[in-house]
Amino acid sequence: MDRKVTVVGAGNVGATAAQRLAEKELCDVVLVDIAEGLPQGKALDLREAAPIEKHDAAVDGSNTYEATAGSDIVIITAGIPRKPGMSRDDLLKTNTNIMKSVCTEVAKQSPDSILIIVSNPLDAMCHVAMETSGFPKHRVMGMAGVLDSARFRAFISMELNVSVENTHAFVLGGHGDTMVPLPRFSTVAGIPITELLSKERIEALVDRTRKGGGEIVALLKTGSAFYAPASAAAEMAEAIIKDKKKILPCAAYLEGEYGISGIFMGVPVKLGSKGIEDIIEIELTESERNDLNDSADAVKQLVEDIGKFM
Ligand code: NAI
Ligand code: 2OP
Repeated sequence: MDRKVTVVGAGNVGATAAQRLAEKELCDVVLVDIAEGLPQGKALDLREAAPIEKHDAAVDGSNTYEATAGSDIVIITAGIPRKPGMSRDDLLKTNTNIMKSVCTEVAKQSPDSILIIVSNPLDAMCHVAMETSGFPKHRVMGMAGVLDSARFRAFISMELNVSVENTHAFVLGGHGDTMVPLPRFSTVAGIPITELLSKERIEALVDRTRKGGGEIVALLKTGSAFYAPASAAAEMAEAIIKDKKKILPCAAYLEGEYGISGIFMGVPVKLGSKGIEDIIEIELTESERNDLNDSADAVKQLVEDIGKFM
């Protein structure tokens, strides 16, 4: 393929994202992980699936970064989950250090790449990635809104028994309990869900969306969601590779948009070959603006907390 995407972290999200990219035949893929044999083994397994899946994307695995040189896009999923006895600060410190070390290598090998950050805490990890790589803001973005709005779309389609393809959903804000799903911009075949569902049902779907990550963790018990997160990261990469100018909710660095500055947060952006080509601003109601400001405060607190590890 004439495009190359590196996926750092060959765990659940990373390996599934590699599979999605290869099976859509969008690019060659390099999987990188610190665990010896893991990226090589998963890459070889994906190569062996290729004849059946009928694609010619090359998938390689590595524990170092030489093979990633000249990547167009780098998707970063490396990180550790919180372990028993670990404080929130310990987790923040560990994941900040992982993101710093990964982005230092990526910036050396692929200085012109576009970064799609997936590791949590998402909005804060985007900050670390931009500071460490020194990349301009249009080449650093976070995946969360595509996942959160896909969850909202899935719940709307389940509630109304309609095709997911008829649904659109709009989610702003940070990735976490303070995210701001916007029902009046969420539609079924162009009809706002506010016309189709009661206030109580909409509130229930919004609440389920906000807690969507936790719902999967509670079911899986030993990990977090990965099929939908991988699909979401792959959709962002596809929009960039194909220069689609697709409007997707992504974590972007804000400098005054929505009245917020100096942090990454989920907003609608136009994704094309240059990365984030535009941030779309819409007029919010007072209550939506208040919710967005609360979400921004939560992200600012996280960024302040990681400041001590930078
Ligand atoms: P996982 O534990 O299955 O995979 C993480 C991988 O990162 C492991 O294979 C580990 O060896 C690797 N890793 C650790 N340190 C590394 C380093 N320095 N260099 C390279 N690789 C390294 O976890 P999973 O489920 O794939 O999730 C990955 C991250 O994505 C987590 O932080 C998770 O919270 C986050 N996530 C974010 C979502 C979002 O919406 N933004 C959605 C789902 C997951
Ligand atoms: C999720 O939303 C864990 O952030 C991850 O599933």
